[in-house]
Amino acid sequence: KKIQLIHAPFWLGGGRAGAELGPESIIEAGMKRQLKNMGLELAGETVVDVPRLAAEPAPAMAKMKYLQEVKEMASLLGEQVYRTVGAGLFPLIMGGDHSIAIGTLAGLTGHYGNLGLIWFDAHGDLNTEETTPSGNIHGMSLAAAVGRGSFTLKDIAGSGPYIRKENVVIIGARELDLGEQEYIRAEGITCFTMHEIDRMGIHAVMEQAIAIAGRGTDGVHVSFDLDCLDPLEACGVGTPVPGGLNYREAHYAMELLAETGLVTSMELVEVNPLLDQNRRTARLAVELAASLLGKRIL
Ligand code: ARG
Ligand code: MN
Ligand code: MN
Ligand code: MN
Repeated sequence: KKIQLIHAPFWLGGGRAGAELGPESIIEAGMKRQLKNMGLELAGETVVDVPRLAAEPAPAMAKMKYLQEVKEMASLLGEQVYRTVGAGLFPLIMGGDHSIAIGTLAGLTGHYGNLGLIWFDAHGDLNTEETTPSGNIHGMSLAAAVGRGSFTLKDIAGSGPYIRKENVVIIGARELDLGEQEYIRAEGITCFTMHEIDRMGIHAVMEQAIAIAGRGTDGVHVSFDLDCLDPLEACGVGTPVPGGLNYREAHYAMELLAETGLVTSMELVEVNPLLDQNRRTARLAVELAASLLGKRIL
């Protein structure tokens, strides 16, 4: 596997400064060293020139903050991801807040007509401008990917079909807004909350998740929001929620994904070094990527 590292230093989707420093922090935490030690080839490294500042601050009550900037980010990132996949490389995208997934998926769906998606997150990211409590687009990125709401993947040039809801799996959820809960129930989206993980164990959850995201698809994209982890282990995120995945569950999930050989791409989002302690969250991101890319102990 030849890896292309893609930096998406974008924070306007979360509205909390520091997320734009995520890619650098993950590099500082040893991402390249890790890939090298595993014998993986680093094909290249690109920094996408995403907007870093807003023309003007978003009004506090705005329902879709920095939409223009998000669209610009998504089309630039989408292009980069599309080219990377076209060149036969594995895109490893480092965010940035979770709105970057709209760019990643624009690029991926341009290439894959039928992609499965596993979304590790404390949140659902299924809000629309009608249901959002914050106006932050990082809480709407999964909605955009499945075509829910007024702003979707199709607004990004070069994107392909929406991700089919039958092939989407959310893992680690523990804070869902009312409109998200209703949508998940109504559409039958597979969502393994922390309750299911406690009840079934991470092994059974991952087996089902892989079956659902992999069924009849061209492959599986892993969108990894570091806030799916417990804040006791990963405090460097913008919207922490107690009671998340622990270190071993997260690693084991990545190892099972590696075994499937189905994973086409990965993104690591919401690392905020301004909120982190000793780069702990960034180092976790590196380790989890390594496990997903096939690192084994023995
Ligand atoms: N549900 C909340 C919102 O829509 C929080 C979203 C957090 N999303 C994230 N990618 N961290 O504002
Ligand atoms: Mn998220
Ligand atoms: Mn989240
Ligand atoms: Mn491991």
